Amino acid sequence: MTRKYLMVGNWKMNQTLSEIDTFFKTLNEVGVKYSCDMKIGIAPQAMHLSTCLNKIGTTDIVIGSQTCSEYEGGAYTGELAPKALKELGCGFTLIGHSERRTIYGETDKEINAKTANALSSDLDVILCIGETLEEREAGKTIEVVMSQLEGALTKGEKAIEFTGNQLTIAYEPVWAIGTGKTASPEQAEEVHAEIRKFLKATYGDAGQDIFILYGGSVKPANVKELLAQPNIDGGLVGGASLEAESFAALCNATK
Ligand code: 13P
Repeated sequence: MTRKYLMVGNWKMNQTLSEIDTFFKTLNEVGVKYSCDMKIGIAPQAMHLSTCLNKIGTTDIVIGSQTCSEYEGGAYTGELAPKALKELGCGFTLIGHSERRTIYGETDKEINAKTANALSSDLDVILCIGETLEEREAGKTIEVVMSQLEGALTKGEKAIEFTGNQLTIAYEPVWAIGTGKTASPEQAEEVHAEIRKFLKATYGDAGQDIFILYGGSVKPANVKELLAQPNIDGGLVGGASLEAESFAALCNATK
């Protein structure tokens, strides 16, 4: 078993330049215990990627984007080319976040193409999946999550090829995002265990080593019990990643 923990802050459309300055200064003062057991990532708004890359200094923090294009390059106004993100120094990209799926109408087809494009540019992918409240209440959680996994990874037009930890899955129940309602550790583990089954059935031994993050109102008060679950390998965190104190508490939680 080579899996360790991964804690990723998804800053969404938050943080100004001065707030980022304060964040990194405070993070430095509060102190994150960087260790080989814990990988840490931050996904700021695209215009702040270079600033964040400069600010991480000698820490082990990896900077990534919140989305990327399904195309390699060319006339796609407003889009982000994985190749250029990689060259800039980014280590990963989120793909298929529920806000991208629901607000911007991203489809499984696009998510599959984005995933293939990012991986072929050597950019790690954090693939986000998760059900709505309506789907959960209709008893369709596993069906929805499996169909999103298949759509992105196994049944799409583009073949998905990766090695090692280039692919991470983030299970984010939509009803728990930004609502303060966290899935209970047992509710989250139930879905994570199904995701693990899918990954092992699809990728064999490599499926055992793929990180599965939980996202949805993760905070210092609930992170330890979530991480105590066998198939929860870390968190994808919105609100609680914006303040350095709470982000540091999350990153130090596994110690
Ligand atoms: P919150 O932690 O604010 O619920 O957001 C979760 C999320 O969407 C991370 O991608």
